[in-house]
Amino acid sequence: MGSGFPVKGAQLLYKLANEQLMIQSMVREFSRKVVAQTAAERDKTKAFPKSNLKKMGELGLMGMMVPPEYGGQDADTISYVLALSEIAYSCASTAVVMSVQNSIVCESINRFGTRDQKEKYLPPLASGEVIGAFALTEPEAGSDPVGQSTTAVRDGEGYVLNGDKRFITSGQSSGTVIVTAKTDESKHHKGISAFVVTKGTPGFKVGNVEDKLGLRASDTTDLIFEDCRVPSENRLGAEGDGFKIAMTCLDCGRIGIAAQSIGVAQAAFDAAIKYIKNRKQFGQSISKFQGIRWKIADMATDIEAARQLMFLAASMKDRGEKFTTQASMAKLFASEMVNRITASALQLHGGYGFIKDYPVERFYRDARVFTIYEGTSEIQRVVISNNILKDKRVPQG
Ligand code: CAA
Repeated sequence: MGSGFPVKGAQLLYKLANEQLMIQSMVREFSRKVVAQTAAERDKTKAFPKSNLKKMGELGLMGMMVPPEYGGQDADTISYVLALSEIAYSCASTAVVMSVQNSIVCESINRFGTRDQKEKYLPPLASGEVIGAFALTEPEAGSDPVGQSTTAVRDGEGYVLNGDKRFITSGQSSGTVIVTAKTDESKHHKGISAFVVTKGTPGFKVGNVEDKLGLRASDTTDLIFEDCRVPSENRLGAEGDGFKIAMTCLDCGRIGIAAQSIGVAQAAFDAAIKYIKNRKQFGQSISKFQGIRWKIADMATDIEAARQLMFLAASMKDRGEKFTTQASMAKLFASEMVNRITASALQLHGGYGFIKDYPVERFYRDARVFTIYEGTSEIQRVVISNNILKDKRVPQG
């Protein structure tokens, strides 16, 4: 996979690139030796990749950007997306668990948690001992999370949560869940708060487990809160900060979806190259036909363009710049790119692309959700256009 990326300052770039490339190569080896071996089986059985995630925790991949005092690696976002792409190359189901854990759950607690919350929740997440989930979406509130109806009502020293969450990644396998709920209906998005709730808390249970087209080894579930009592010390940030926390961490999550898209696209592309080189028709390898060579050139260009957008968003985050627009651009372009790439890779395999003897049909199914979760393509276009139109540097009228 590509190694070039834009970072300001040549001296710094060279030094950092070496560390980043070392992480990439270590994760690539682990991913292809360990994660890839059972990916097809997991897709069939829907078995959650528990032991691989534990090993990934030992390798420092489950809390990559968490500071060392809380058990993390303090890695930069570039290293994180390189690692995540490598895991996605072998198993997209494993990658989505890693992505939610790092980009959304650890990021939320690290950015918005108190010292006590960080000390309590981050080390077991970073070690991979505990899996995290982020519960924002509801049956009637997907693209518009302000329309959620879960409530958190103050009661003495804590809150009582009631409501249903839907499509929660790792809903069943997680031990620590960040849940958003309305604390003040009248305040619109400023009336939403976030809470850390652990499994085993009375009144908190897992509901329906979805049967999905792709990402079959990652569980997606309903989470149900019925008079679930949560102490005030479990509130993340101030009362009313929940929407801001969700939006801030989804920015990072969207870079993660771009990284997953690039990993799966690269896997589909490599599989297609291998196939077309070996497949002979009309007396020659089909890779000799110009129609196929041009397709390959377009696919490679598409993947590289997405990779550069991902690096741009990640490096802006690392420099402490506002990266919301670039994260949405990377997510939008990369998730649509991987759907084009996996469809083309399948087509290049002919009939063999449609059967389970080859991995390309799994890549095609896994990629389908990337334009949907963590904000649909349509929502990314809303975010990008809103930010452009409100930017004072853009000439108005
Ligand atoms: N960072 C920080 N703050 C942000 C922000 C960001 N990226 N985006 C918006 N905000 C803040 C704004 O500054 C504003 O705050 P103030 O009033 O204090 O200025 C506030 O949020 C409201 O902003 P908007 O008026 O722009 O919000 P909106 O209601 O119009 O919604 C939206 C914007 C982009 C449509 C947003 O609702 C959105 O992203 N929707 C998609 C939700 C989504 O991605 N869901 C997926 C959930 S997770 C998942 O898929 C699965 C999983 O398991 C992880």
